[in-house]
Parts: sequence; C-alpha cells; structure tokens
Amino acid sequence: MTTSPERNSEAIRHVLGVSNLRAIRESNPLTICRGDGAYIFDEYGKDYLDASSSFYCAGLGYGCQQEILDAIAEQIGKLSFCVSASSRTTDTTIEFAERLSGLVPIDNARILFGCSGSEANDFLIKILRYREILKGETNRRKIISRRGGYHGGTIATAALGGDPDLHESFGLDTADHLYVSQPDYFNSGLPGETEAQYVSRLADELIRTIEDTGPEKISAFFIEPVNFSSGFLPPPTGYMSRMSEITRRYGISLIADEIVTGFGRTGALFGSDTVGLVPDCLTLGKAMGGAYFPMSAAVIDGDLYDWLERGSDVHGAFGHASTFSGHPIGAAIGLKILEIFEKQNLLAHI
Ligand SMILES: Cc1ncc(COP(=O)(O)O)c(C=O)c1O
Repeated sequence: MTTSPERNSEAIRHVLGVSNLRAIRESNPLTICRGDGAYIFDEYGKDYLDASSSFYCAGLGYGCQQEILDAIAEQIGKLSFCVSASSRTTDTTIEFAERLSGLVPIDNARILFGCSGSEANDFLIKILRYREILKGETNRRKIISRRGGYHGGTIATAALGGDPDLHESFGLDTADHLYVSQPDYFNSGLPGETEAQYVSRLADELIRTIEDTGPEKISAFFIEPVNFSSGFLPPPTGYMSRMSEITRRYGISLIADEIVTGFGRTGALFGSDTVGLVPDCLTLGKAMGGAYFPMSAAVIDGDLYDWLERGSDVHGAFGHASTFSGHPIGAAIGLKILEIFEKQNLLAHI
C-alpha cells in the first residue's frame, strides 16, 4: 500500500480531459499508482476492477508480461528511434506494417502510422482530401458520420463526432460534415417496426442525406463496427451490408473506425470481421500498443495508396509526416502483442 501524498488539488498542473475542472479544483482526481492484471490501485492502495481496460487500451491488462519487457529492451538496445519519413524507416516498423496488412480485412493494405486514434482519423481525412484533389474532384470534401459517435479530439475529428456539444462549445466548423442516425433498434425502433424495417428506414435516411447534398460532394462515411459512445450496441442484422451497398453505389469510401473495436475487443481481431463489414479503409489505435506505447494507424486500400503515389509524381513527395509515427519501440510492442494473441489463442477466450 502506498501512502497518500498530501496533495493540494488547486496545485495540480495537469489539465484533465472530460472532467469537471471546477470540481477537480475542490477535490483531487482519482490518482492511480499501480496496475496488476485487470486491477488498478489508487494512491491509498484501494483496488478497482478496470472493466474498460482504461478506455479500451490495456487489452492485455496491467503489469508488463516479461516477453513485452524483453521486446522493449531488445528494441531500445538495437535502435531506440529513427524517424519514418524522408525515404527512411526502421526494419521493425516495416515488419509491423507487413504483419498488420496481412491481418486486416482490406485488400492490398498499406499502413500509415500515427500516435493516437485522433491522429489516425485526422490523417485519413487529410489523405482522402488529397486523393479527391488529385482526382480533380475539389468539391468532394464532405464526410458523413453518425450522431452519438466519437472519433477523436483534434479539430477535424471532433467535428466528425456526432455530439453537438463536441463542436459548439469549441466553435468548430461543421460545414463539411453530415450526420445520420446511430443504429439503435432497441431504443429507436418504432412501435411495431421490425428490425428489417428499421434498417430500411436508416438506409433511406442515408440515401436522402447523400442525394440532398449531392453524391459528388461526399468523400467518406465513417462508421464504428460497434459504437462505443452510444452504448456498445451491435448493429441490427443487415445494417452493415445496406450501408456498404449504398456507399459503393454512390462512390463514397466506407471507413471503419476500429480504434475501440480493434485487437480482439469484439471477439475477432477486428470489429469489422465480427459484424461482417468490408470497409475501404480502417483506423486503429488504443489496444494496438496494448497501452504500453501510444500507437495508431490509418489502414488504406491499394487504390487509395495508388493515388498517394500519383501525388508524388505531381508534388515531388507525399507532403505529410508525423515525427513519432511508426516508432520502432511501438512497432516491436505491436508485433509482440500479435504474437501473444496467436500463441495464447486469446481470441478463443474473448
Ligand atoms: C471510436 C474512437 N475513435 C477515435 C478515438 C480517438 O482516439 P484517441 O483518444 O487515442 O485520440 C476514440 C477515443 O476514445 C474512439 O473511441
């Protein structure tokens, strides 16, 4: 048991997200000092069963497995860091990208690494715009997402979130955003409406949104395989196939935000596999680095990558980078996590 420091909450310099900052001035935030298995322990030694694995990140629990510690030590001993940009990267980063691309439900996948889920979604929005401009479709900027969804904390990804409070209190520009219903048959189905009728109603809403706006102005539809912020409700039967069929018909990219649902959260390695979704691109984060290291990725299909290559012909280089993306320590951890998933047959136990 640790002895609690006599901390003056007024003096806490750490600005906490999603917290009542006025209340924190009056009482200390819960301060966690230790983790073990599925438990975390506060500064008084009180234990908590962390059923959400710290915002769905610590997929393998707390307390580093020896194999992970060894992988970290080995990578730091070999090469602690080298930037992945300016035509260079690391052997471990290449190996991790290769391993991931063979696992995701996307053809000819390429991996653009980031350090947070917000970055992964933000980068993807940015490169979708890059593609549309190269195609000469400069008006194709709008993105559809679902009310009640959450996709990150940057200016672009917060606007993608489907809660007006995320936009309005920060004065975010949502002119390029369109919002449709979150599928929730249990709470939003009408009296007497069957699941199939409910899915048809949501499909009609999506079609109406696309046609009223003009499909030529819409780039992508961001969707979570299972939405977490609206209550972890699995989509109704037939919903994903209808959404896929509609986006394909109108030439709109379907993006799976797998930042929560990736890496076993829904029983398969990816939530898309669980709900029968075949997205054009997907984004990963959180459990990707097991919370041992911040890692994320935008996974893009071969067609989008071809456009990035064409962009280099036009601009001389792909004008995007992020210093720590593809960090070799994170890549070494990511590889080890995938190995543990396989060796311990973890998916069979979820
Ligand atoms: C579905 C989803 N997408 C994106 C994000 C943003 O990820 P991060 O907080 O790592 O930036 C979150 C975070 O909770 C999320 O739940």
